[in-house]
Amino acid sequence: MSHSNVKHGILRYGWWTRVNHWLIAFSFVLLTLSGLALFYPAFFGLTALFGGPEPTRIVHPYIGVFMSLFFVIQAVRFFGDNLIRRHDIQWAKQIRDVLSNRDERLPPVGKNNFGQKIVYWIFLATVPVLLVTGVVLWRPWIANDMPIWALRWAVTIHAYAAFIAIITLVIHVYSAIWVKGSVRAMTQGRVSHAWARHHHGLWYEDIMRNRKNDDQAASPTSEVQDRR
Ligand code: HEM
Repeated sequence: MSHSNVKHGILRYGWWTRVNHWLIAFSFVLLTLSGLALFYPAFFGLTALFGGPEPTRIVHPYIGVFMSLFFVIQAVRFFGDNLIRRHDIQWAKQIRDVLSNRDERLPPVGKNNFGQKIVYWIFLATVPVLLVTGVVLWRPWIANDMPIWALRWAVTIHAYAAFIAIITLVIHVYSAIWVKGSVRAMTQGRVSHAWARHHHGLWYEDIMRNRKNDDQAASPTSEVQDRR
């Protein structure tokens, strides 16, 4: 199967990448709702979504572990696409052009732009912190054996990390909706040639070059993984 197909467009995310991503996204939303319900009295009403306060407390850490497992898989597979390159710095310097939709002035970027890469690294920094501090706070399995100072540190760091991750998610979702065609990439997998050329010029060139050389076999590393 080739990655570029005149009729169907270019494969950006294979089916497993998409399923993995949506499992993370769905669990993350559930974690946010149940976490806010436990954290702040104004959100207490959200416990109704999980069958009451006690079920909310019980289910929250299990969803956290579930999400973390799929997050590790995604983080490993997306790693190479999120290393910061020289053209990313130039893109970041032109952030005013990005925010003013002056796309034609921006340098071409690879599979992800600088903003997407920063989102990746913030999630990579916050999810493990949330997991470790969450495990420390896990009642009745772990928390009962922890000293009080550890619980205090854990609850504070957990709340700050959650705050950063939730704000990052809001920015991530907003950008995905803002850049028309992105949501389709994560739901249907493919993007148009025009979209790829316009938003991720270097990635597009890579795919087209490989297609010319060997339409069936050659493809960039990340794309090889995405076929699965
Ligand atoms: C309801 C929640 C979410 C929505 C609507 C959403 C939407 C999307 C979309 C549309 C893309 C494709 C962007 C593109 O290729 O241009 C994407 C990519 C990605 N998503 Fe999400 N996502 C959500 C939650 C999450 C969560 C919770 C994480 C990680 C904890 C995450 C991590 C990523 C990463 C690393 C990428 C690839 C690079 C990027 O585009 O930033 N997403 N997401």
